[in-house]
Amino acid sequence: MILVLDFGGQYAQLIARRVREARVYSELIPYDTPVEEIRARNPEGIILSGGPCSVYEDDAPRVEPELFDLGVPILGICYGMQLMALVLGGEVGAVQIREYGRSDIVVKSHDGLFAGTPDRQKAWTSHGDAVFAVPEGFEVTAETPSVPIIAFEEREKGRYGVQFHPEVRHTDYGLEILKNFLFEACECRPEWTPVNIINDAVEKIREQVGGARAICGLSGGVDSATAAMLVHRAIGDNLTCVFVDHGLLRHNEAEQVVEAFAQNSDVPLIHVNSSGRFLDKLAGVTDPEAKRKIIGEEFIRTFEEEAGNIDDAKFLVQGTLYSDVIESGTRDAARIKSHHNVGGLPEVMDLDLVEPLRNLFKDEVRVVAAELGMPEQLVWRQPFPGPGLAIRVIGEVTAERLEILRRADAVLQDEIRSAGLYRELWQSFAVLPAIHSVGVMGDARTYAYPIVIRAVTSDDAMTADWARLPYDLLERVSNRIINEVPGVNRVALDITSKPPGTIEWE
Ligand code: XMP
Repeated sequence: MILVLDFGGQYAQLIARRVREARVYSELIPYDTPVEEIRARNPEGIILSGGPCSVYEDDAPRVEPELFDLGVPILGICYGMQLMALVLGGEVGAVQIREYGRSDIVVKSHDGLFAGTPDRQKAWTSHGDAVFAVPEGFEVTAETPSVPIIAFEEREKGRYGVQFHPEVRHTDYGLEILKNFLFEACECRPEWTPVNIINDAVEKIREQVGGARAICGLSGGVDSATAAMLVHRAIGDNLTCVFVDHGLLRHNEAEQVVEAFAQNSDVPLIHVNSSGRFLDKLAGVTDPEAKRKIIGEEFIRTFEEEAGNIDDAKFLVQGTLYSDVIESGTRDAARIKSHHNVGGLPEVMDLDLVEPLRNLFKDEVRVVAAELGMPEQLVWRQPFPGPGLAIRVIGEVTAERLEILRRADAVLQDEIRSAGLYRELWQSFAVLPAIHSVGVMGDARTYAYPIVIRAVTSDDAMTADWARLPYDLLERVSNRIINEVPGVNRVALDITSKPPGTIEWE
């Protein structure tokens, strides 16, 4: 087992997830877990995550120096590397040019973490500080043009540090580097499998829910469907699913979700049409966080009302993922946005939450879903956020603006599917900004909305790259949207990765 100490980095849980992907069980624990507790858990290795602070800030998170005397291999990532350097007698300082995104690194030693990887490789960095001098006994193992110490090692004592993020997919050899740490430095064995994840989840659900009844908020996506399947396995007929149509769905989506569910499952499904209610609450609201909180609360109130009709329903099952949790902010991680099912929840709720996927990422959920025998179409459905089109209609959400976005989005989806690109893309969607621009159509001036096309590749939503869609596809999409969607006179393409952007616009 590998313990990951969480210093509040956006990717901390992703590290644990990658370790599990290498089939070694891993858990994220707070950075200030006492060293004695860590020793008692007998980990085969420890990873120190990144974090938003600078090691020199007064209240920056620290570790007890005894952590380095446990005789267990330790890998420091980003902030973790800087902390290791500082505790062991090295120097850390602010870099002149901050590095965000892909950097070119040059490997200087292939004896440890970089074994089996090339001399030059791309790695994902996101930092303002770096190690300026290594502690005694350490060797510099990689550099970038602007950062001379991007990785270091003290192999004899099992201490390793990388300034970049091996846990994100956009680091070319990240998994190899982590595997070298796991299987060479820590001598772990790969024994953690999807079947183990399912058995573990089912057992925990039984323990939590006992003989009570539960309802599951179903969205039509893979997360809530997988959560429902796991809970159904655990408590059988005591589960009822509820699908709330909040009026913020895409073209024909509600019908498709209900039909697909009926075909693939025998769990009872209640379909609630609440579109008027959500739109009324959103009237006049433009702030993204306010929209998210309103939607989060309305979801819960609707579920509570439905639970009131089912005897003894005490639990609400949600398909919450770890990426939702981390972005909503935790004790040690900054809030990026309040996901409707986490940070957007009201303070007081009648139902207790059951969230069997809360520690997993989407790609882990897809593996579990496939293992549970769910249809491929559902397993590979592109993610769609719970607040739906409300966070893609920038500014006020009105029925008219929703309809413009719905029609533009339907064109995009149609073209993406026809081009055979749907599954390759993590997400592809249209955004309606709250601006107008001038155009000329049929010899007359127009002053109308633009539509922004957003298409990204990603494995887990923690990082993403903008998709290089073919020009002829973009041309068809642009022509069709302007010709077929009244109220739109311009189409733009979003070419921002995450970070620094997020996938959704709000
Ligand atoms: P961002 O925009 O933060 O999104 O890069 C990461 C992933 O999460 C989805 N998303 C949400 N999903 N409730 C959800 O269920 C939410 O409130 C929410 N906000 C964003 C987003 O579509 C992307 O896949």
